[in-house]
Amino acid sequence: MPFPQSFLDELTARCDIVDVVGSYVHLTKKGANLFGLCPFHSEKTGSFSVSPDKQIYYCFGCKRGGGVVNFIMEEENLSFPDAVRFLAKRVNLEVPEEDGDREAGRRRQRLLDLNREAARFYYRMLQQPEGRAVQDYLDRRQIRKATAVNFGLGASLDRWDALITAMTRMGYTKAELLSAGLAVQNKNGGIYDKFRSRLMFPVIDVRGDVVAFGGRVLDKSEPKYMNSSETPVYSKRRELYALNLAKKSKRPNIILCEGNIDVVTLHQAGFDNAVASMGTALTQEQTRLLSRYTKELVLCYDNDNAGKVATERALQILNNSEFSVRVLQLPNRRMEDGTMGKQDADDFIKNFGPGAFERLLSGSENGVEFRLAQTAGKYDLTDDRQRLAYAEEVSALLAGLESPVERDIYTVRAAEAAKLTPEAMKLEVQRAFKRRLGREKRTQERRDLNPAAELQPRERAMHYTNVRSAMAEEGVIRLLLLDDSLFPPAPPLREEDFSSPLLGRVFSLLWEQRAQGGVPRLTALAAVLTGQEMSHITSVCQKPESAANRPQALADYIAVIRREAEKRAGAGADPLAAVTEKIREQKLNKQKHNDGGTQHG
Ligand code: CTP
Ligand code: MN
Repeated sequence: MPFPQSFLDELTARCDIVDVVGSYVHLTKKGANLFGLCPFHSEKTGSFSVSPDKQIYYCFGCKRGGGVVNFIMEEENLSFPDAVRFLAKRVNLEVPEEDGDREAGRRRQRLLDLNREAARFYYRMLQQPEGRAVQDYLDRRQIRKATAVNFGLGASLDRWDALITAMTRMGYTKAELLSAGLAVQNKNGGIYDKFRSRLMFPVIDVRGDVVAFGGRVLDKSEPKYMNSSETPVYSKRRELYALNLAKKSKRPNIILCEGNIDVVTLHQAGFDNAVASMGTALTQEQTRLLSRYTKELVLCYDNDNAGKVATERALQILNNSEFSVRVLQLPNRRMEDGTMGKQDADDFIKNFGPGAFERLLSGSENGVEFRLAQTAGKYDLTDDRQRLAYAEEVSALLAGLESPVERDIYTVRAAEAAKLTPEAMKLEVQRAFKRRLGREKRTQERRDLNPAAELQPRERAMHYTNVRSAMAEEGVIRLLLLDDSLFPPAPPLREEDFSSPLLGRVFSLLWEQRAQGGVPRLTALAAVLTGQEMSHITSVCQKPESAANRPQALADYIAVIRREAEKRAGAGADPLAAVTEKIREQKLNKQKHNDGGTQHG
C-alpha cells in the first residue's frame, strides 16, 4: 500500500465527503442523504446521492460511486496517489511520500517537460529554412502568423532524428522519448522520430500542459494525421483540442467541430470558443470536462455522412443532459462538376466569411429540429404513402421527448412539414407515446418479476455465478464496512469461500487493513480496485441493511456462504450431496420464512 493506513484514516476523517462533494455539486438534503445532479453523467433530475453516515457517494443513474478519494479521482482526472495528495493539500495535511510515488510523480513531470520542449522545438523549426514547406502550407491554408503562435503550431522536419537529437542533447533519454510517444522503435531496436514532415498541433490540456501532438501531412498522402499514442500523461477520451483556449472565451457556448484545422480557422475568424475531439466520437469524459465551462454546446461537424453520424452519436450522449444542444448545419457546396460536395467549417469560413458563419451560429437548430429535418430528408413528402411513413417515424421520435411542451411544439412543426393537420399528427404522437409508456411498464414488470437479474453487477466481468451466496457475501462486506466493531477476532471465512472473486478479494483487503491496525474503509480500497469495481462495492454499501441485531445478521450471512462453498466443493465428489443439500435448504428456507429471517435489502 503506497500510503500508511494511519495517514489515510486521518485524511478521510478530515475530508468530510459532504464538504468535498459539496464544493463541486449543489446538494440538497433529503432524509438521511443529500442529493444533486450527477457530475459524471448528464441528467436533469438529481439521482446522485451522498451519504454522510457511510461517507460514500452513489449515483442511481449511472451507478458510479465510491468514497471521497474516488470522487476526486473521477472529478479531477487524477490517479489514486494524486487524488490523495490533492485532498491532503485541501486540508493542510502533510503527505508521507514513499520513494516510489515521488519517483512516479517525477517521471510524469519529466514527460510533460519533454513535451513542452518538443513543442518549442517544432515551433522554432517553423521559422527555420528547413521548416519552409510547413510555413508554405500554412500560407496556403491562410493561417496567419499570430494564429499559428496562439496555437503553438510547429514543423516536424524531413529527417529521421531531428527531434531525438535535439531532445537527447537537452538530457532526455531515449526511453523518455518513447514513453512520451515522440519516438518509435524499429525492429532492430533503433529509434526514430515519430513525426516527420508534418504540420504539428500541440494538444494542450486545461491546466496548460502540453500532453500530446497531432501532425498533419502537407500533401495528399496517408495517414493524413498522426496523433500521439496514449501515454501516462495523455488519454484521448479525456481531452479536447483547443479547450485550453476556448475555456477563456467570452462567447456563451462552445462549438464542437471535427478537425484541428476547422478549430484554428474558427479561432482566427473570431470564434474562439471552438474545440475539436480530434477524430473520435464525443465521449462521456469530454462532456464532463465541457460542463465545467459551458451549459450550451453547438455541434458543427462536417456535412458529409460521417459528420451526420457523428452528430447523431453526440446527440445521443447529450440526450437528457443539462446542456442545451444545438446543431449548426453547414450547407452543401455546389462543386465545379455540378454535384453537391462536402463542406466543413474551414471551407465555409473561407467561402463565405465570418459574418455568414455568425448568422448560421445564431440560427442553428436545436437537437430536435435537426433530427426532424434529418427524418424529413429521408422521405419524399409529396408522395402520400411516404408522408404516412414520415408521420410514423417522426411520431416515435417525438414520443421520446420528456417535456409535453416540447412534444407539442415539434408535433405542430412536423405536421407542417408533411402537410398534415396538427390534430392528426397529435393523435399519431399520442399513440406512439402510449406505446412507449407500455413498453417501459413491461420492462419494469419484467424486472420486478425477475429480481435476480437486478441483483447482478452491471459489468459482465463481475457477474455472480451464485446469486444466493453473492447476496450473503455482499451482506458481509456491507456490515463490516458499516460497523467495524463487528469484526470477529479471526477471519470467519477464507477468500476462496466467496463465490464472487471480487467480493472475496475485498474481504481479504478489509482484513489486511484491519491487521495493520486501521479502520477498514472504502478509501484504501480505491488504491487497488478499478473504478468499476469500486462503484460496485459502493452500490453494495448503499443497499439498506437492517440496523437490528447486526451480529446475528452477519452470522447468518456467513452460514449461507459456508454452506454454498461446501456445496461447490462437494458437488464434484458426490452427486447425491447436491440433492440432499437442496432438500435441506428448502427446509431451512421454510423455517426462516416462519421466523422472519434476516433482511437482505
Ligand atoms: N484525424 C485523425 N487521423 C486521420 C484523419 C483525421 O486523427 N487519419 C482527426 C484529426 O484530428 C483531424 C480530424 O480527425 O483534425 C478531422 O479530420 P479531417 O476533417 O480529415 O481533418 P481536418 O483537420 O479538417 O483537415 P483538412 O481541413 O485539411 O481536411
Ligand atoms: Mn475537415
